[in-house]
Order: sequence, then C-alpha cells, then structure tokens
Amino acid sequence: MKILVTGGLGFIGSHTVVELLQKNYEVVIIDNLSNSSISVLEGITSITQKSPQFYKLDLKDKLELSEFFEEHQDLDGIIHFAASKAVGESVEKPLMYYENNINTLVLVLQEMRRKELSNFIFSSSCTVYGQADELPITEEAPVKKAESPYGNTKQIGEEIIQEYAKVNSDFSGISLRYFNPIGAHESTQIGELPIGVPQNLIPFITQTAAGKRKELSVFGDDYPTQDGTAIRDYIHVVDLAKAHIVALERLIQKKNKKNYEVFNLGTGKGNSVLEVIHAFEKVTQQKLPYKIVDRREGDIIAAYADTTKANNDLGWKAELGIEEALKSAWEWQLKQD
Ligand SMILES: NC(=O)c1ccc[n+]([C@@H]2O[C@H](COP(=O)([O-])OP(=O)(O)OC[C@H]3O[C@@H](n4cnc5c(N)ncnc54)[C@H](O)[C@@H]3O)[C@@H](O)[C@H]2O)c1
Repeated sequence: MKILVTGGLGFIGSHTVVELLQKNYEVVIIDNLSNSSISVLEGITSITQKSPQFYKLDLKDKLELSEFFEEHQDLDGIIHFAASKAVGESVEKPLMYYENNINTLVLVLQEMRRKELSNFIFSSSCTVYGQADELPITEEAPVKKAESPYGNTKQIGEEIIQEYAKVNSDFSGISLRYFNPIGAHESTQIGELPIGVPQNLIPFITQTAAGKRKELSVFGDDYPTQDGTAIRDYIHVVDLAKAHIVALERLIQKKNKKNYEVFNLGTGKGNSVLEVIHAFEKVTQQKLPYKIVDRREGDIIAAYADTTKANNDLGWKAELGIEEALKSAWEWQLKQD
C-alpha cells in the first residue's frame, strides 16, 4: 500500500510517517520545507531504518503537483497535513493562509479526482468548535464562527471535502479534529521544531526551562475554571499519529459508515495551564519561571474532547498521558542546540 503524506516533514506528519513505515506502508512525502527541516528525514530514517520517498514540492504549484500525480497514479491513500498553522500570523496575512490552506486542498482534491483516487484524511482542528456550549465536546457540537483566518481555513476545508464527497460516491474522506498535540517520539529523533517564538504552550515551556526564554507568560488566571487558567486537551503526538493509520485503514478496508466522516482526536481529559506547568516540573525536576499576564485575545476558556465516537467507531484510544508527553517534549528539547 502506497500512501502520500503532504506536510510529512512537519510535527504531526513526521510522527505519522514513522508509524506508517513501521506498519510496512510505502510512503511518499511532499513538503516544501516552509515550516520544517530536511533533517527530519534523517530522523525518520534513523527510527525506522527505512527511507521514504521525498519530494520537495510546493502544493501551490499546480503544474508540479500534476506531474507528481502523473508519476504516482497508484496511491492507496493521502494524508493531507500540509498547511500554515500560526493563528496570529493568519490574522496578519489572511490571503496567504487562504491560498496555502484552501487553494492547495482544492488542487489536491482535483488531482485525486483526475486520477480517480479515494481515501483522503484531512487535518482539522478543535478550533472549529470555538468555545463549545457543552463539555466534553462531541462531533455534534455546532461549528462556531472562526476566531481567525486560520480557524476559518479548517472550517472551509471541511466544507469543501464534505461537498465534494456528497457528489462523488467513489471518494472517501475523513476529517480528524485534533485537540492539542504535544510531545515527541520516544527515540528523540523527531519532535516539534517551532520556528521563531513558539505559539503553543509546550514548546514555550520547554524552551523556557532550557533557558532560551526568560519566563513563560500564562495568559489569564481569572477564567471560570478551578484554578483560573485555561483548560485544553493535550494529546501525545504519537497517539495522534496512530489514529491516522486507523482512520486510513478504515477507508482502505471500506469500514466507513459514510463517505465523509469526522472524528475528534483527544484524550478526553482537560488540563489547566497551571496543571501542565506543575506536571512538567514534576516529571522533569525543572523549575519553570512563569508570570500571569492578561488574557490573550481569541483564547477560549476550556476545550476537551468527547472521544466516544473515535473510541467506538475507529477503535482508537489515546494511550499515553500528559506526563509521558511532557517528558518526551523535554527530552527532545534537550537534544536541540
Ligand atoms: N499542531 C497543532 O497544534 C495542530 C492542531 C490542529 C490541527 N493541526 C493541523 O495539522 C496539520 C499539521 O500540523 P503540524 O503541527 O504538523 O504543522 P507543521 O507546520 O509542523 O507541518 C506542516 C508541514 O507542511 C509543510 N507545508 C506547508 N505548506 C506547504 C505547501 N504549500 N506545500 C508543501 N508543504 C507545505 C510545512 O513545511 C510543514 O513541514 C496542519 O494542517 C495543522 O493546521 C495542527
């Protein structure tokens, strides 16, 4: 079985490529290295002792993409990670986000249509729920107006796939709504490589503990939560990667109930920012300097997944806890210069 992984050198993509190779899938990666490094390929090879095919290709390049699909007409599935993902940047550069996240999705689907390929997995996000009215969040929760162009690209992306699936019964697609992916591979050969100032909590924590940043800012301690800080569902990236294989196999084995489905991927458990800080200090024995600052615009109070659908229909469950994830993120940080 041959699988195309777009954005396969990125954080979640690289961990998924490792899981695919370890399950003996043939993997072809497309990545333009806009938010990743070619060294990730060595990390993948060193873990798996296998070398996936790699194409340094920008999905925005219609011609090159067509040539790629001409060459690879025998794909059994596509996992589409490639996208820009910085919320703040998306507010500054909305057109760049719509071009890179929406145009490329359309181009990939057009190529799939041309080559009569099905089995498509899309990286979506729990941002589509905004601040959900009920917790934990089920897939039935309404999609709320996006807070940023980035969030909007995920909502529009899902709609595009759904509408395409509606009129193409041969096509099968799944959108996976990730909660908060964190951690790194236990080998410490691959992990999260944020470029510039990290936007997410965990790389900020590990860089602060490593002395690269003076202190961590905790945005708001007056939220209506038990300790006043915001709550998220942190899922180990290796668990997340494994869910992609399960979702892909559901499509390949035609076990899907509809030709377009949506699943939440989280642990089902929420942790506050202060809980994460204390868990990090406990597992790493590092003291983390932090200060409480004002709330950050656009941040929601709490989000954690109802994972019943993923557990029952996909037969997948997150196995690793937050402490394992934080430990792996720290070990990965220690390997960086
Ligand atoms: N990390 C998260 O917190 C999170 C949460 C929810 C959803 N997602 C989604 O999951 C996917 C993967 O996220 P990630 O954290 O691994 O991000 P990442 O930035 O580490 O990986 C994305 C990869 O895609 C590549 N890429 C971007 N645009 C491209 C293009 N036009 N052509 C070819 N390659 C391109 C980048 O170089 C990068 O290697 C994204 O779609 C993201 O929006 C991420």
